[in-house]
Amino acid sequence: MRQPAETQFARNAERYARSPVFAQSDDLSALLRVVDPQPHWQTLDVATGGGHTALACAGRARHVTATDIVPQMLAAARRLACEHGLTNIDFALADAESLPHPDATFDLVTCRIAPHHFDDPGRAVREMARVCKPGALAAVIDGIAPPDRAVADEINRWEADRDPSHVALLTVTGWSALFCAAGLDAAHLSTFDLWLDFDEHMRRADVDTETAAALRRRLLHSSPAMRDWLKVTVEGDTITFNWPLALIVGRKAAAG
Ligand SMILES: C[S@@+](CC[C@H](N)C(=O)[O-])C[C@H]1O[C@@H](n2cnc3c(N)ncnc32)[C@H](O)[C@@H]1O
Repeated sequence: MRQPAETQFARNAERYARSPVFAQSDDLSALLRVVDPQPHWQTLDVATGGGHTALACAGRARHVTATDIVPQMLAAARRLACEHGLTNIDFALADAESLPHPDATFDLVTCRIAPHHFDDPGRAVREMARVCKPGALAAVIDGIAPPDRAVADEINRWEADRDPSHVALLTVTGWSALFCAAGLDAAHLSTFDLWLDFDEHMRRADVDTETAAALRRRLLHSSPAMRDWLKVTVEGDTITFNWPLALIVGRKAAAG
């Protein structure tokens, strides 16, 4: 049964904040390269989780506002920012689908590996676009679904049984359509491999032993198309698989 993100992330906050998968991966360095935060920028990180994207931007921009729907995640992100000596980040509770900020506030709005938890990702993208200044950038990174709907459904069901707050992955085409509908002009689109270790993937979401064993069996016996999309590899007891990510960047039209 679907569980709200509040329940799932409140009990796993520290695990996400300390996860190497979230702290350092190619997609995060690519995000910085593409959006190139400037020293005078005021940026917003939506669904900041352990704060890795917010921290990365804070190293370059003047100020970062980091928001999340789970107070425990904000506390974990705040601890991490403190450990890194970063003092230009503010943390605030906010639902991605209803941001409390005025229109046209930020030079950059980011949201990384979170929209698959949102009930209405289109609404979240419209909110990101709304709070962008004219000419500013909105950037999303998230896992992507294969174009074949049946395979996408199979992957979504498997992931939702690992993390009950999972809603759905979108296809790259789906993401482009949401950006376009929010009035964001396509500025960049790239995809990345995110290699995951099965056991660590289970531990991060605090999956019990019995469920983990069932998910292991289901992955190994999933459809050939699902195994192919996830590039599942087995070496002894170790299962590794790829969770493809996309980086989508859009620009809000400049004023006038
Ligand atoms: C995997 S973590 C995000 C990782 C993080 N952005 C990073 O770069 O490391 C997903 C986060 O989405 C948050 N979340 C889920 N639904 C949300 C919503 N509707 N509004 C705001 N945050 C939400 C969860 O609380 C969780 O902290």
